[in-house]
Amino acid sequence: MSKPLIAPSILAADFARLADEAAAVPGADWLHVDVMDNHFVPNLTIGQPVVEALLKVTDIPMDCHLMIENPERWAPPYAEAGAHNVTFHAEATDHPVGVARDIRAAGAKAGLSVKPGTPIDPYLEILPEFDTVLIMSVEPGFGGQKFIPEVLPKVGLVRRLIDAGELTIVVEIDGGINDETIEQAAEAGVDCFVAGSAVYSAHDPAAAVQALRRKAAAASKHLQP
Ligand code: DX5
Ligand code: ZN
Repeated sequence: MSKPLIAPSILAADFARLADEAAAVPGADWLHVDVMDNHFVPNLTIGQPVVEALLKVTDIPMDCHLMIENPERWAPPYAEAGAHNVTFHAEATDHPVGVARDIRAAGAKAGLSVKPGTPIDPYLEILPEFDTVLIMSVEPGFGGQKFIPEVLPKVGLVRRLIDAGELTIVVEIDGGINDETIEQAAEAGVDCFVAGSAVYSAHDPAAAVQALRRKAAAASKHLQP
């Protein structure tokens, strides 16, 4: 049993006030940073200089979600900069194990992400090379989209391997997580819940983080309050 991890996504925050927006979620376990390159996804967000600036103003462990091409070249520098976790997409590389090893060698946790339409089965045997597996529950690229429940069997598959003692990994979900969808994700076996609009469009983002954590813990037997 572990505590649910809540990772507010700053994609939904005010980019002109990122330091304040990080400070607005003091109870967050990870701060989720969506890096998009306008090639892997049809959107462009922020990159390493902004991550470096943010690392200086917050102690919340940084969870960098790289929606970019060529993670071989671009992922390890985020680890070197001091990110806690560096996640890249399985669809973006033919060498996921090499990238994971480079991230770990640079001092961060390594994460593997799959889009909603990408099966997890072909990657199960390499998951021991990773610390987190990020199951996308919307098409990557934009915040504020509707949760896709059809991805939950992938969560269940990984959860069963963990429960059987065959794998140690954090199961993370990203996209459309809010008060109404977090319970089904928790029940399916998620450990870490990314929430962008549900946290940053709330009147009180800190309270929203706590409320999400309580709901997740109450919904699942593998999580505790
Ligand atoms: C989408 C990003 C998500 C996004 C989630 O490509 O990876 O992290 O910020 O936003 P919400 O929680 O609003 O769906
Ligand atoms: Zn993300």
